[in-house]
Amino acid sequence: MERELSREFLRVVEDSAIAAARTMGTGDRNLADQAAVEAMRKVMDSIPMNGTIVIGEGERDEAPMLYIGERVGIKESAEAEFPGVDIAVDPLEGTNLCATGGPGAITVLASSEKGGLLHAPDCYMEKIIVGPASKGAVDLNAPVKDNLRAIARRLDREVENLVIVVLDRERHGQLIQDIRDAGARIRLISDGDLSAGITVALRGTGVHAVMGIGGAPEGVLTAAALRCLNGEILGRLVIRDEKQAERMQAMGIKDLKKVYRTQDLAPGANIVFAATGVTDGTLLKGVRFFADGVRTHSLLMNRAHRVVRFVDTVHLADRPDIEVRF
Ligand code: FBP
Repeated sequence: MERELSREFLRVVEDSAIAAARTMGTGDRNLADQAAVEAMRKVMDSIPMNGTIVIGEGERDEAPMLYIGERVGIKESAEAEFPGVDIAVDPLEGTNLCATGGPGAITVLASSEKGGLLHAPDCYMEKIIVGPASKGAVDLNAPVKDNLRAIARRLDREVENLVIVVLDRERHGQLIQDIRDAGARIRLISDGDLSAGITVALRGTGVHAVMGIGGAPEGVLTAAALRCLNGEILGRLVIRDEKQAERMQAMGIKDLKKVYRTQDLAPGANIVFAATGVTDGTLLKGVRFFADGVRTHSLLMNRAHRVVRFVDTVHLADRPDIEVRF
């Protein structure tokens, strides 16, 4: 069944990427996000599944579609016949990137059997993300230089030869200084620590870790991808104030200082992960429009079936004289 759903989920991320890419460069991040959300929801509601959004566009009262708890899938038939799946989405990761035509915007969906994806609150998360070789070598409580040395050792190279991805934010001033002092190289990104986290887990991409504070929902989606790629994310929720702390406790989070590992964030056995490039990036090519159709580039992974697919799809225009290029 996961195999069939994988194919359907590919359609979800492809269609939302095409819709978002149409808005590229308009300078309107909300328009880009809305296009992706609407397309994503439309395709989801044509899939024979009994889906529940566990990470989406926010709480019910703040998001008209893909809100947390929303049921998705074909509604007409008896629900009991369809598989129950939990779904986490980031309909457009990198809304600003799409609005400005910057590199690396993607559409993302992860699914699992019920309970297989942490219902992370919409807050920040402190993260370290590494690839398979550095699994078990890093510690969120250790000094930056120690983590860099450990990663370098695992990758059989000097710290000077590491590239660490960091979101370009004021809050990362000290982190950036610590990485520089340790001698590693840095790639500052304006947005998109989810796609950077996946890139780090792929050998040969030239980046070796992501460090710093980004979104917690993105942390869960990264974990789902890393369960398929054998990478590692360590994450700790960043609590803004007393009110947020109370809200999290009400959500059932007992230990606010807990360090979550990949398996805690995405414990599911049947994880499917799908992403499509919206704008050109290191991980995926962006959507290309041409006279005879649209071309998309996606990543589709299925943990249970142990497959990682890079999918190059040509969506043909509805006319008789189309030509497909190699
Ligand atoms: P959006 O596309 O939802 O705007 O998120 C982009 C992103 O850069 C994430 O990759 C990252 O985790 C988060 O925003 C960081 O948040 P902030 O921009 O508030 O620092």
